[in-house]
Amino acid sequence: MERVLLLCICAASVLRAVCPLLANKYRFVNEMKTWTEAQSFCREKYSDLAAIQGMDDVTMLNEQVDQSKMGDNHVAWIGLYDDMNSWMWSMSDSDFYQHDENFTNWKTEEPNNYAGIESCVEMYDNGRWNDKPCAEQKNSICFDVTGTNVTFVHISIKMNWTDSQRYCREVHTDLASVRNIAENQKVNELMSPGEKVWIGLFRNTWTWSDGTSSAFRYWSSGEPNGNSDNCAAADMKNHGKWEDWNCEVKTTFICSADPVHTKQVKLKVVGSSSVDLNNPDVLEDLLKEMKQKLKDQGVDEDIRLSWKKQEDGKIFHKDEEKSRNNNNNEL
Ligand SMILES: *[C@@H]1O[C@H](CO)[C@@H](O)[C@H](O)[C@H]1NC(C)=O
Ligand SMILES: *[C@@H]1O[C@H](CO)[C@@H](O)[C@H](O)[C@H]1NC(C)=O
Ligand SMILES: *[C@@H]1O[C@H](CO)[C@@H](O)[C@H](O)[C@H]1NC(C)=O
Repeated sequence: MERVLLLCICAASVLRAVCPLLANKYRFVNEMKTWTEAQSFCREKYSDLAAIQGMDDVTMLNEQVDQSKMGDNHVAWIGLYDDMNSWMWSMSDSDFYQHDENFTNWKTEEPNNYAGIESCVEMYDNGRWNDKPCAEQKNSICFDVTGTNVTFVHISIKMNWTDSQRYCREVHTDLASVRNIAENQKVNELMSPGEKVWIGLFRNTWTWSDGTSSAFRYWSSGEPNGNSDNCAAADMKNHGKWEDWNCEVKTTFICSADPVHTKQVKLKVVGSSSVDLNNPDVLEDLLKEMKQKLKDQGVDEDIRLSWKKQEDGKIFHKDEEKSRNNNNNEL
C-alpha cells in the first residue's frame, strides 16, 4: 500500500484519477478575539464569521467543534450582530431627503435599546424621540407626500409599529418622516397631552455579518436580553444555543469557509502494480493514506477526500498512449 501511495504523490503516469478535496462549511478558531477582530480574521482567512441558517447547521457545528479544546471558555462568536447605527425612515426615497441633515430629536440618553429589544421609534408629547419595542401598540402619525410637500395625519388606532406602517402605506403615503425641527413641531401639534405615537424611524435588529438574510434564530431562553450586548455567541455546552454578549469580550469564534471551494486533483499512478485500482477497499485505503500524508504536510485536519467518478462510472483509466509506449519498451 505504501508503495502505491508514494507513486500517487509522485504523480507518475499510466492510470488517472480525480479526487476533489471537499471543505467543511465551518472553521472553529481557538483564539481569543473581540467580535470585530474575529470578523476581520474570518474575512481574511476564510469567508466571514459563521452564518447559521437552520438546525442542520447547528448539528454540523455541534459535531465539528471539539469542546475539549475550548477549556472553560465554551462560547464562540458567530456572525450575528445587532447594528445600533442602522436607523432609517420607513419612506426611504433619496430625492425626498437630499437636502437634509439627518435630523434627530432623541430624548437625553436615548436610544438605549433597553433590554435589547428596542428598534422602533415613538415621539413623546414634548416632541422628543425614544426607541421602543416594535410590538407595543400605540397611535401613530402617517403623512401624505406631494413632491416635497407633506401633510401629517394623526391615526387614533392602537397598533404595533409594523401594522401602523402597513396602515399608513395603504391609506396615506407612509409612516411619518420628520426631516427638521419645523416638521417635528407640526407632528407634535397633532398629539394630545401624555400621548406617545409611532413615527417612521426604525432600525435593523440582528443581522448576519455576511449579508445572509436567514431569519433562523437559536437563542437560549430569555435571550437576547442586554442593552449593549450587540454580538451573538454560541454556547457549545448548551447545544450551541445563542446568547448576546458585549462585542468587546475576547473569546473563540467560528468562521464559515466558502462551501463551494473545492479542489480537484488529478492523480496518475505508475503501472505494473498488481493492486486492483477498481476495488472499493483499495480505493478507500488509498484515501486514508493520502489524508495522513496531507496531515503530515500540515494540511488542515478537517479536509475531506473523495474519489470522483468519470462519465463511464470508473475512477481510474488506463492511459492508452503511455501503456502503448510501455508495451513497446517491454517488447
Ligand atoms: C446623513 O447620513 C448619510 C447616510 O448615513 C451620510 O452619508 C451623510 O453624510 C449624512 N449627512 C450629514 C449632513 O450628516
Ligand atoms: C404586529 O402585529 C401583527 C398582527 O396584527 C403581527 O403579525 C406582527 O408580527 C406584529 N409585529 C410586531 C413587530 O410585533
Ligand atoms: C407645495 O406647497 C406649496 C405651498 O403651499 C404650493 O405652492 C405647491 O404647489 C405645492 N407643491 C406641490 C407639488 O403640491
